[in-house]
Amino acid sequence: MRIAMIGTGYVGLVSGACFAEFGTTVHCMDRDADKIARLNRGELPIHEPGLDELLARNIAAGRLRFTTEMAEATTGADAIFIAVGTPSRRGNGEADLRFVHSAAVTAARAAEPDSVIVTKSTVPVGTGRELARRLAEAVPNKRLHVAANPEFLREGAAIADFMRPDRVVVGAESERARTVLEALYRPLYLNQTPLVITDLETAELAKYAANAFLATKIGFINEMADLCEAVGADVHGVACCMGLDGRIGPKFLHPGPGFGGSCFPKDTRCLAHTADTVGTPLGIVNAVIAGNDRRPDTMAAKIANALGGDVSGQTLAVLGLTFKPNTDDMREAPSLKIIPALQSAGVTIRAFDPHGMPEAAKHLADVVWCRDCYDAMTGADGVAILTEWNQFRNLDTQRMHQALRRPVVIDLRNIYDPAAMTEAGFHYTCVGRQ
Ligand code: UDX
Repeated sequence: MRIAMIGTGYVGLVSGACFAEFGTTVHCMDRDADKIARLNRGELPIHEPGLDELLARNIAAGRLRFTTEMAEATTGADAIFIAVGTPSRRGNGEADLRFVHSAAVTAARAAEPDSVIVTKSTVPVGTGRELARRLAEAVPNKRLHVAANPEFLREGAAIADFMRPDRVVVGAESERARTVLEALYRPLYLNQTPLVITDLETAELAKYAANAFLATKIGFINEMADLCEAVGADVHGVACCMGLDGRIGPKFLHPGPGFGGSCFPKDTRCLAHTADTVGTPLGIVNAVIAGNDRRPDTMAAKIANALGGDVSGQTLAVLGLTFKPNTDDMREAPSLKIIPALQSAGVTIRAFDPHGMPEAAKHLADVVWCRDCYDAMTGADGVAILTEWNQFRNLDTQRMHQALRRPVVIDLRNIYDPAAMTEAGFHYTCVGRQ
């Protein structure tokens, strides 16, 4: 089979490379000529474990190609996936669908008759139906099919998530759309992956509902963590007991500085906006959004408290800036709010992140960028761990003592054992534990 992938951002690139790995011929198209030139040289614009290998192997096999020409990408393609950006409109959370609409119309003009135009970007309910209307208007004499195929990829684990998903969701209402998408995902049937075929609106909403529910689990456990601190309980014990109930499940109950990234904050806001528009406001989702918006200030206050309250003139080492490990993505990272809050209270920040510093430097001012963890801790009044990179999990406590001016550790990801850290001579603060 042959497909076109329009947009070589995170979703387009990972999905394109993974479909090629399944044996499909994939033509990725992007209007950014510089990016396409770099991809053709095998240079990756993002950090995603395993993607470089996948790209190299499939480019060499001739199954994966990159172009700036729409017609080149769509020639002979059974399906055209739209994986362009859907930025939030400022303020109200509404998704800006200009790029989706224009990419789909341009693709439709160049498409073979009977092609399936598939939305891969996360798009609000109603987008597929609206696209079908726009395409019928723009290319009235060509039969085209519209389908929704939302992705559930986690950054840092995107390839595994694509290759071994919990489910594949397809919104398709014509026989041709269903057959093409079933054929594209056939390699997954070997793993018995459930393929849910449904209507456009259900597929579109399912993606938002799943993300909003996961965000709610995180928001909930963060609230429980605050309560645990106040009443003397341990949030991990609470999460463990909750998670053993099969109806709840153990995942996404890890407390921390709040959820970030390109999906949860944006998707929850967009879902709330959609619901407001149709007159069914989402009380739970709105509460989750508000709770997560307050979280960075709570975390900055926790850090200030651990440093002794009056932080003006103090220096803090910050380990981890990205919204989670194994990515260079800084979008909506809690660090982007926690650091400025501390700086405005007079704290000097010395930061280190294995992959996030170039991007972080575009958003944060007056930070001392350090070459490693111990460099960051040198002369600092304490160290705060904001992202749980593996290399922060087993720091050399001797070297920490030598580097730090005061042995204060604030672990916002709970990667250390409180008793062991106290034993090792640190004033240790974490989330939801004593
Ligand atoms: C998420 C969804 O998991 C994925 O299915 C969807 O398609 C895109 O959005 P991603 O944003 O890459 O993926 O990261 P994820 O691993 O889900 O974490 C999101 C945020 O929640 C991170 O900031 C993470 O630190 C936080 N988180 C996650 C917690 O604070 N606690 C948890 O228990 C889990």
